[in-house]
Amino acid sequence: MAEWTVTIRTEFKGDMQPVIQILDDFAVQAARQFVEYCKTLIEQRGRIHVGLTGGGTAQALYEALVRPEILDGLDVRAIDFYMGDERPVPPSDPQSNWGMAATTFLDPAGVPQENRHRMRAEAADLDQAAHEYERLLRDRLPQVNQTPAFDLLLLGMGADGHTASLFPGTTALEEASRLVVPNYVPKLSMNRLTFTYPLINASQAVWILASGANKAEATRRVLDGRDPTLPVTGVAPHHGMLVWLVDRSASDQLSTRGSASG
Ligand code: 6PG
Repeated sequence: MAEWTVTIRTEFKGDMQPVIQILDDFAVQAARQFVEYCKTLIEQRGRIHVGLTGGGTAQALYEALVRPEILDGLDVRAIDFYMGDERPVPPSDPQSNWGMAATTFLDPAGVPQENRHRMRAEAADLDQAAHEYERLLRDRLPQVNQTPAFDLLLLGMGADGHTASLFPGTTALEEASRLVVPNYVPKLSMNRLTFTYPLINASQAVWILASGANKAEATRRVLDGRDPTLPVTGVAPHHGMLVWLVDRSASDQLSTRGSASG
C-alpha cells in the first residue's frame, strides 16, 4: 500500500489546479486518505467541520471508513458532520442521504449526537429549512470572507455531471448569495435541499468522488474540457484545495492522467 502523503495547505491561492488521484482500491484508499487528512487537520485546528455527501460512491467510502484498521486513531469527537444535500424524506426513509450516512458511518463510528447536523428536508416549508440550515452553518463554522468554510467537503458526481443536488438546468445553479436552497429537479420530479456554489467554493478543501465507467465521460468533460454545462465544473474553491478521487474506470477517458496512486 502506497504511503499516503497528505499535503495540508494552510495558505491558498484561488487559481489552484485540481489534484487528480487515480485510486486502484477506491473505497479503501479514499477512506485511508480521509482519516489521515482529518487527523492532520485536527492536530492543526483542534475541531473540524466536514460535509458529507450521499450516493453509492460515498457509501462505499463510509463502509470502508468504519473498518477498525482504517478508522483507528481518528477522534470523531473532534469532527462535526453535515450533509451537502438531502431528499425531501425523513432520515428513516431508504432515500435519505443522512439515513445512509448514519447507518454506514456515523453510528458504527460512534459519532456523538451533538456532532451530527442533518438537513430537515422532510419539512413542509423547505425554504425555511434551508434558511435554518444556513443559520446553523453560519453559527458553527469558521468563516472565510464572511462565508462559512468547511475544513473538508465531500461531493459525489452523477453521470450527468450533477453534484450535491445541483442538477443541469436547475435554478440553484444561479444562486449567488444564499448558502443552502431548495431546488426542484424536473428529471426526478422532486424537490431537494442543496448547498450552493457560494458555500461549496468557500471550503478549504473539496474532494470530488467519482467511480465507475458511467462517470468516465463526465469526468473527462470536466477535467479535460472544463465543460460549463456540467454543474460539477462550477466547483472551484476560491481559496481552497480541490481534489478529484477517481477510480481507474472513471478516469479511463482522461488525457491528463493525474497522479496515479496504486
Ligand atoms: C444525492 C447525492 C448526489 C450523489 C451523486 C453520485 O443526493 O444523490 O448527493 O450528488 O453524490 O448522484 O451518486 P453515486 O455515487 O450513487 O453515483
